[in-house]
Amino acid sequence: MMWTALLLLGLAVLLLYARRTRRRNEPPLDKGMIPWLGHALEFGKDAAKFLTRMKQKHGDIFTVRAAGQYITVLLDSNCYDAVLSDVVSLDQTGYAQVLMKRIFSLNLPNHNPESEKKRAEMHFQGSALTQLCSSMQNNLQHLVTPSEMGLKVSEWKKDGLFHFCYSLLFKTGYLTVFGAEKNNSAALAEIYEEFRRFDKLLPKLARTTENKEEKQIASSAREKLWKWLTPSRLDRKPERQSWLGNYVQHLQDEGIDAETQRRAMLLQLWVTQGNSGPTAFWVLGYLLTHPEALRAVTEEIQGGKHLRPEEKQKNTPVFDSVLSETLRLTAAALITREVKQDKKICLSNGQEYQLRRGDRLCVFPFISPQMDPQIHQQPEMFQFDRFLNADGTEKKDFFKEGLRVKYPSVPWGTKDNLCPGRQFAISAIKELVFTILTRFDLELCDKNAKLPLVDPTRYGFGILQPAGDLEIRYRIRS
Ligand code: HEM
Repeated sequence: MMWTALLLLGLAVLLLYARRTRRRNEPPLDKGMIPWLGHALEFGKDAAKFLTRMKQKHGDIFTVRAAGQYITVLLDSNCYDAVLSDVVSLDQTGYAQVLMKRIFSLNLPNHNPESEKKRAEMHFQGSALTQLCSSMQNNLQHLVTPSEMGLKVSEWKKDGLFHFCYSLLFKTGYLTVFGAEKNNSAALAEIYEEFRRFDKLLPKLARTTENKEEKQIASSAREKLWKWLTPSRLDRKPERQSWLGNYVQHLQDEGIDAETQRRAMLLQLWVTQGNSGPTAFWVLGYLLTHPEALRAVTEEIQGGKHLRPEEKQKNTPVFDSVLSETLRLTAAALITREVKQDKKICLSNGQEYQLRRGDRLCVFPFISPQMDPQIHQQPEMFQFDRFLNADGTEKKDFFKEGLRVKYPSVPWGTKDNLCPGRQFAISAIKELVFTILTRFDLELCDKNAKLPLVDPTRYGFGILQPAGDLEIRYRIRS
């Protein structure tokens, strides 16, 4: 009896959802063929492919149904800032809470992304940033010594480029930001391996599509990481008022219990270490597969050889263009908000649309501006000098239909939501690439090898990751 009632109730809800029709001034509505589920499978399988298809069908704004939720996707990059600045109608905390629970098994009821970002900004700027960068450089230089690498000078070693870059930059970042008890090379390797086990499953955890075995792997990796990341085991450097120390203090002031505190540490580990390593991989991967770009970057580094270490990173327009181009091709975060009240938005062509309360709004800069063929010619190609003017200065002017676009690429988020760690991230990636190109011989095992394809399930989760790896061999120069 109860089951029949529940079934009927379910059917009634299903019918109610299925009945949704497009109202006047609302974006085109595309519910897909499958009741309730709508486009969920295609969206999850390869968000870039699906949203590109929808853009071709409907234009720069449309509403799709996915797993019972109606999602309006906005792809007009010139109005991202204006739309997302309305934090009253568009809430970013609700969905963030859902993801935190699913991925990190973490419940932070008072989590406020605005104040988190302000706190991080204070610690990742000015003299704190200088100190952090210098500590990062020391840590990296230590990690690439022959003894730490377990390698004799001039002895060749094989590895996958993704593993090589990610593990090195993860360890560097972990030592710098988390300055921890677990800091000998075996312990560092162990924490990286567990982190990767967890990181690999992240898209599935977010979509709750993990199977039983994957659930167990994720749980076991999380348990180990939580244990290692317990705040009292980390060197919080309170005297230097580090970002992490300050964050832990804030959690304690909020009355957050010890178990939740250590879970929050894993969230911060992923936020601070989950994107730089993969970016370094793509930068080096593109350089190794584009000899002209590698030559240009190497020449630029040679030209700065006489500079003091702290000056070496400053005037590097060629490398900066390579990094911008790499981020254009691989930065694919999906910015999601919950629509709290009906809201009118205006596109850059003046057309107005109505957003409906209870829906979600998604902005996906990867599709536009980054891969927009009207802004970037042959957008799928890596062109190392795309962000360089003919006189060697940074190119900032890009156009669409005759109008200058506000941003040719949005890897660090939109105006009100910029990544607070971006300068530190750039500095770490640069330091790693410069160190490898000056202190190592590093080459492809197969000279004709191509970059691996992207793992399409990672669209929406920050920097993309490859579906395979690129085999390299390397040695420390004598
Ligand atoms: C290539 C590397 C990186 C990329 C592409 C990147 C990108 C982003 C983006 C797009 C956001 C905004 C997310 C949103 O609000 O929707 C963000 C937030 C953030 N990033 Fe980064 N990031 C990188 C590296 C780093 C590093 C190295 C640090 C610190 C050491 C860092 C610290 C943060 C923090 C603290 C936040 C705020 C998270 C929150 O909402 O609580 N990021 N990052």
